Amino acid sequence: MNNALLQSNIPNLPVRRGKVRDVYQLGGDRLLIVASDRISAFDVVMPTGIPDKGSILTGLSNFWFDFFRKEFPDCRNHLIETDAAKFPAELQPYRAQLAGRAVICRKTKVMPIEGIVRGYITGSGWKDYLKTGIVSGIKLPPGLKQCQQLPEPIFTPSTKAEAGHDEPISFEEAAKQVGEGVLAKARRLTIDLYARAAQFARGKGIIIADTKFEFGTHPDVDNGQTPILIDEALTPDSSRFWPADQYEVGRDQASFDKQYVRNYLETLSWNKQPPGPELPADVVMNTRAKYVEAFERLTGSKFQA
Ligand SMILES: Nc1ncnc2c1ncn2[C@@H]1O[C@H](COP(=O)(O)OP(=O)(O)OP(=O)(O)O)[C@@H](O)[C@H]1O
Ligand SMILES: [Mg+2]
Repeated sequence: MNNALLQSNIPNLPVRRGKVRDVYQLGGDRLLIVASDRISAFDVVMPTGIPDKGSILTGLSNFWFDFFRKEFPDCRNHLIETDAAKFPAELQPYRAQLAGRAVICRKTKVMPIEGIVRGYITGSGWKDYLKTGIVSGIKLPPGLKQCQQLPEPIFTPSTKAEAGHDEPISFEEAAKQVGEGVLAKARRLTIDLYARAAQFARGKGIIIADTKFEFGTHPDVDNGQTPILIDEALTPDSSRFWPADQYEVGRDQASFDKQYVRNYLETLSWNKQPPGPELPADVVMNTRAKYVEAFERLTGSKFQA
């Protein structure tokens, strides 16, 4: 039976629903972010959920936030409370719904830029490279093969579109929107966090080919001049995870991430416009298993629903 939580329901709190997360406004500049079991592909939310996906994503993000807090003491993140037992009294009646999948965090002003970093050339970066040799304004060496590791990770920001698809944006254009100082800090952090996480994951048999970080600012934190890491971190939704033992340059890779669902959807004649198709039970189960495997390999802990 598919017991996925497609939508959380906390009455009497203002809510904004993203593709995956329900974001509730608490008092005092705080948010309650609940990761549902929704899955999106090609920017369309599927009608079928993946049981436990929200808890897996939240657990993995919390793991990385903790890892970064130790490794990069200067890097601020948005987390305030991850233990539902310690959430405010008004939320305790909903604890069963929230435990494991919800966090309380500081409400920030979201930077309208996604901090994308690529260590390997694949996806849209590979398409751009084949056409022009350039990815997001960065000239890459000639002769790279599909999925090859880059000489060093590159920062390829994109816009955070209100609706529709995110578009690549140059550093200069992005700097005009958010300020060069804070963007330069976000770029540095994006590359440093990725490089350290990729090294860690490699030791667990996972290649992190690329990932996306989101940042916000808050007037209380360095007068809004320091980017704060928000949203999720290094999950199968925000990253490409490849099993290292099957890695081979020059072809597509097996993956622990959403690529599996995308590949399934490519076998249909669906036009990638809403509504998305229902996912069959075996695709749901296999997707869940991939998310669980990524969680368990990276955190070293058994996933407990
Ligand atoms: N600390 C924070 N302060 C303010 N907003 C945040 C914070 N952390 C996450 N968010 C926002 O909450 C939303 C999370 O929802 P979700 O990940 O489902 O969104 P999405 O569908 O990926 O993107 P969007 O909501 O922009 O369409 C995102 O819009 C994200 O930018
Ligand atoms: Mg998101």
